[in-house]
Amino acid sequence: MKRAVYPGSFDPLHNGHLDIIRRSRRVCDGLTVAVLDNPLKSSKLFTPEVRVGLIREATADLGGVSVETFSGLLTDYVRSNGSQMIVKSLRGALDYEYEAQMAQLNRLLYPDAETLFLLAASEWSFVSSTRVRELASLGADVSGLVPPATLEALADLG
Ligand code: PNS
Repeated sequence: MKRAVYPGSFDPLHNGHLDIIRRSRRVCDGLTVAVLDNPLKSSKLFTPEVRVGLIREATADLGGVSVETFSGLLTDYVRSNGSQMIVKSLRGALDYEYEAQMAQLNRLLYPDAETLFLLAASEWSFVSSTRVRELASLGADVSGLVPPATLEALADLG
């Protein structure tokens, strides 16, 4: 059984994330979406618990997907989760340097796990949580960028 972890901040979940979750399900038997809960860093928008709830809601129709928070080293979490793969998304060259560095370090820390890079779908390659937060805070319509659960939670923020 091949298990994978898709780690991130997901603050908030957007359509690009959801696409990666759907597509990575094709290459593993079970996927855990792991939301970073960093006690030293306050959330930019939603608490880790709210983010987990939003991802659960958006992935409720998908089998084999679980959602959890994690803290500390990703490789420790991957090991304890019994996973052999770390899923990451690359939107373009800007992501590459940052992600390649993390993948190399993670392989050093836990050689039994492989980082699997999925190229972001072209329609979502310009979407990031940072941009969604900025657009939403300025009153822009982000309904084309995020799943309904995220949209409702953003609306609730006022
Ligand atoms: O969505 P993000 O913010 O790009 O996700 C970054 C994340 C959570 C994948 C990364 O910060 C991470 O793995 N943090 C856990 C701490 C850790 O293991 N750091 C060493 C990485 S080499």
